Amino acid sequence: MAMIGPTVCTTCVISQLCIRNRAPLLFHSSGAFINGVSWCSKTNTVLRNRAGGRRRMSVNATATATEGLQKGIAEFYDESSGIWENIWGDHMHHGFYEPGSDVSLSDHRSAQIRMIEESLRFASLSEDSEEKPRNIVDVGCGIGGSSRYLAKKYGAKCQGITLSPVQAQRAQALANAQGLESKVSFQVADALNQPFEDGQFDLVWSMESGEHMPDKTKFVNELARVAAPGGTIIIVTWCHRDLSPSEDSLRPEEEVLLKKICDAFYLPAWCSTADYVKLLKSLSLEDIKAEDWSEYVAPFWPAVIKSALSWKGFTSLLTSGWKTIKGAFAMPLMIEGYKKGLIKFAIITCRKPASIREDTSSLS
Ligand SMILES: C[S@@+](CC[C@H](N)C(=O)[O-])C[C@H]1O[C@@H](n2cnc3c(N)ncnc32)[C@H](O)[C@@H]1O
Repeated sequence: MAMIGPTVCTTCVISQLCIRNRAPLLFHSSGAFINGVSWCSKTNTVLRNRAGGRRRMSVNATATATEGLQKGIAEFYDESSGIWENIWGDHMHHGFYEPGSDVSLSDHRSAQIRMIEESLRFASLSEDSEEKPRNIVDVGCGIGGSSRYLAKKYGAKCQGITLSPVQAQRAQALANAQGLESKVSFQVADALNQPFEDGQFDLVWSMESGEHMPDKTKFVNELARVAAPGGTIIIVTWCHRDLSPSEDSLRPEEEVLLKKICDAFYLPAWCSTADYVKLLKSLSLEDIKAEDWSEYVAPFWPAVIKSALSWKGFTSLLTSGWKTIKGAFAMPLMIEGYKKGLIKFAIITCRKPASIREDTSSLS
C-alpha cells in the first residue's frame, strides 16, 4: 500500500497518511511509529505493501524509530528495576511452573531459577567440566540475575549488556557484593551492535530481551556473530503465534491487543517462533530447536498482578513513575494474550557450527 505525506507528527520526520483510509498514522509519544512499523489510525492495522510485506521505512526513519524505542526501554528499566528487585528479586523473567500447580509467592523465585535450569537443559548444555561454558554473554541482562547464576554454576566469566544505566550499575554492585567482580561485568550496550569481537562466547544467553529488539534479523545476526564456533545460543522470548499457511498476518483484533502491550512495555513489532527458526536457518546454525513453553509460565502474570496489588507493591508503584504504572496496567493484557493463544512464551536454541571459524566475519 502506498502512502502520502508529510502531515502528522511534529517530533518525527516520518509523517504520513494512510492513503486508503485517509487517516493519520499512529505514533508513540516519542514520535516513533508504533511497533516500528506503520499503523493506520482508522483501521488500527499494520500497513502492508502490495506484495503483502510490511512497508520498508527509510533508513533515517528506521534509525529515528529505533533511537526513540531504545530511549524508552532504557527509561522504563531505569525507573522500574528497583521496584521489581524489591518485590521479586534479581530475576526479571517468567518462572517455569508445573502446569496446573498451585504456587505461593515464595515459590516464584525458585520458578525463575527453574526457568534458567530448564533452558540450559533444553539446549543440552553440558555439565562436564571439559565442555561447560567458560565465556558467557548475557544479552539484555537486567540487573544481572542470570549472569551471576551462570557464572557461579559454571565457574565461567560472564559479560552482561543492557540499555539501562541503572540496571548495569545495580548488576555490578550485586556482583561485587557476592565476590564475583573478577568473573562478571556489566555495561550499557546495544544488543544490535554488541561491543564484542567475533566468536568470543561459548554460551550466548538472551533471556526475555528479544521481544524488545526492533530488528530481529540484526539481533540474531549479532548473537551468531559473537558466538564461538561450536557455541550455544539460547533465546527465551515472547512471540506471537505462528501463522497458518493460509494467513499472511495476524487478525486485526490480535494486532490491536499486541499494539497496546507494545506501547506499555516499549516493544517493537512481534514475530513468531517460526520466524526465529527461519532466521537461524538462514545463518546455517545447527541443532535448531524451538518449543512453546506458554503452559509452563501460566501462573506468572497473575502472581505479578497479585504482588502489585499488595500494600508494598501498591505503594512502590505510586512512588515509581508513569512508565512503570503504565506497564502495571498492561499486565492483564498479557494474560489475555496467552489465554487467546496469541502470545507464546518461546525457547529457541541452536549451536554455531564448529567448522566456520574462518567465516565468522560474514555474520557481522
Ligand atoms: C525483561 S528484562 C530481562 C532481564 C534479564 N534477562 C533477566 O532475565 O532478568 C529485558 C532486558 O533487555 C534489555 N534490552 C532491551 N533492548 C536491548 C538492547 N537493544 N540492547 C541491550 N539490552 C536490551 C533491557 O535493558 C532489559 O535489561
